[in-house]
Amino acid sequence: MAHRTNKTKVRASRQRSAGSSRWLQRQVNDPYVQRAKKDGYRSRAAYKLLEIDAKHHLMKRGYRVLDLGSAPGGWAQVAASKGCRVVGVDLLKIEPIPDVTLIQADIEQEATVGRMLEALGGSADLVLSDLAPSATGQRAVDRLRSEAMGEIVLDLAPSILRPGGDLLLKMLRGADAALGDMARSIFRSIRLVRPDATRRESSEIYLLARDLKATDPGDG
Ligand SMILES: C[S@@+](CC[C@H](N)C(=O)[O-])C[C@H]1O[C@@H](n2cnc3c(N)ncnc32)[C@H](O)[C@@H]1O
Repeated sequence: MAHRTNKTKVRASRQRSAGSSRWLQRQVNDPYVQRAKKDGYRSRAAYKLLEIDAKHHLMKRGYRVLDLGSAPGGWAQVAASKGCRVVGVDLLKIEPIPDVTLIQADIEQEATVGRMLEALGGSADLVLSDLAPSATGQRAVDRLRSEAMGEIVLDLAPSILRPGGDLLLKMLRGADAALGDMARSIFRSIRLVRPDATRRESSEIYLLARDLKATDPGDG
């Protein structure tokens, strides 16, 4: 008997490359993309954070949450819906989100730290980083760029997060050894999490680092 599938086929067109046809086909058939549309989330990524939070209870009402790499805003929407005070930062412009302060800036610029802390009104209780450098398609290069981005966030952590605060950091598999060691030196607990909403073929994984150690006043 012939098998029927409910998958929508995206027709090849002269204007569309094979790569973008594949991307479009995956998007239209992705249940999380369809759910996000129905639930009013700007990205399917919202379900990754919802899933991680349901299991690990990261967000509390009134928490100051810094959302790094915030565009188009799915995670910021989720954090705001949990009653958190959210500041979202991205290189890209983000359409306004109710109860969220948005900053268009590069987190690698020193001046951005001051802007983020000012907008938060103090150190964050929770830093979310879904930052993703633009992919080159070369696995080793992309992993190194993801690792470098992770290092920047871990370096920033003591200046933007309160002692006892938590960090959720996206990275690519393979970067976990170096970043895990670095995180272990400044946080009391480290674990790797991979939500079901992450695409099966993706090498993305999240480092959940909890309970930032207080910095010794003698340091630095
Ligand atoms: C995967 S997307 C984030 C999706 C978001 N969590 C959501 O739920 O909608 C990654 C974002 O990181 C941003 N990004 C990459 N490098 C950055 C940098 N140096 N400073 C600020 N944002 C950056 C990109 O512009 C991109 O929007």
